[in-house]
Amino acid sequence: MTLTGSPSQAASDAAVEDFDSIKLYTLKNDQGMTVKVTNYGAIITSITVPDRDGNPGDVVLGYNNVEGYINAVDKPYFGAVVGRYGNRIAEGSFTLDGETYSLAVNNGENSLHGGIIGFDKVVWTVKSADDRSIELTYVAKDMEEGYPGNLDVSVTYTVTDENQLVIDYHATTDKATPVNLTQHTYFNLQGEGEGSILDHELMLNANEFTPVDQGLIPTGKTPNVEGTPFDFTSAKPIGRDIDDDHEQLTFGGGYDHNWVLNKSGEADAPTLAARVHDPASGRVLTVSTTEPGIQFYCGNFLDGRLQGKSGKTYGHRSGFCLETQHYPDSPNQPNFPSTILRPGDTYQTQTVFGFSTK
Ligand code: BGC
Repeated sequence: MTLTGSPSQAASDAAVEDFDSIKLYTLKNDQGMTVKVTNYGAIITSITVPDRDGNPGDVVLGYNNVEGYINAVDKPYFGAVVGRYGNRIAEGSFTLDGETYSLAVNNGENSLHGGIIGFDKVVWTVKSADDRSIELTYVAKDMEEGYPGNLDVSVTYTVTDENQLVIDYHATTDKATPVNLTQHTYFNLQGEGEGSILDHELMLNANEFTPVDQGLIPTGKTPNVEGTPFDFTSAKPIGRDIDDDHEQLTFGGGYDHNWVLNKSGEADAPTLAARVHDPASGRVLTVSTTEPGIQFYCGNFLDGRLQGKSGKTYGHRSGFCLETQHYPDSPNQPNFPSTILRPGDTYQTQTVFGFSTK
């Protein structure tokens, strides 16, 4: 990975002690798919897949140097693994086994994506890497960003000949702690920097979602999506209802919500969560996961100030994230599936991003 700019200035913003240890790795399959990954933030910097005519295109937003990621305006978390807790914890506080913990607060009064220096801003260790797969590990210390327990984390990215990117997450702890790991890649199936994603057609395999308050903290309710702009049970363009007069869309500035995934079959096998089709390029992204929820965020906070890896600016809603996860604020919401990992147990989840064309 090229390093430009001033590492010492960049280092003050992130937990980077040794810039020389930051490297870029390329995974590839026999079908021409390539995935680039850096051990800074376990970030996916590019995914190249063919369109319906066989032309390769890079379908994820990002930078071509590490300073881009470190210094990005508003910290969009392009391509990163977020943790220890992906999404928000209300007022950066939760009580576990009778003890109240105060987290680093970085989003109004709330804690977002693990705090000020989350897993997206640290240098991971490369445990193994070959053409097909890379395993990255990170040890988050007891009370890092306010979370209890030394947490051993491993994320493995693997490409298959079916044009899939398989992501396996593992974690163990020496004290009970909340854990919620996800991948924050922004996709644009037409190609990064190729404009808005509002014409992409999205299907979410979810009959319910978790509405939020103004700070984007779930209210605890899980209403049915039927008859609302949140109904993606049949594919529709992302932009079709996005500007409807609906309080939830006002709070999110568009879609920035968690959906409750419909589940059937084996709990530990990934099930279909989402499918996105870009009519222009013909590219299709299918997301499957073992997780119970998915955050669909459609780049509402992108505003054209960020310039990406090929020099194009990233405008409003020019990328979308499908973050497989447990529901936001679960440590404070007894009715949501638990995110607490205890010593002796293993956190183990899998998400698969599959690419095809039609
Ligand atoms: C959140 C957004 C946030 C974005 C940061 C998403 O996961 O839901 O509210 O602005 O991450 O890029």
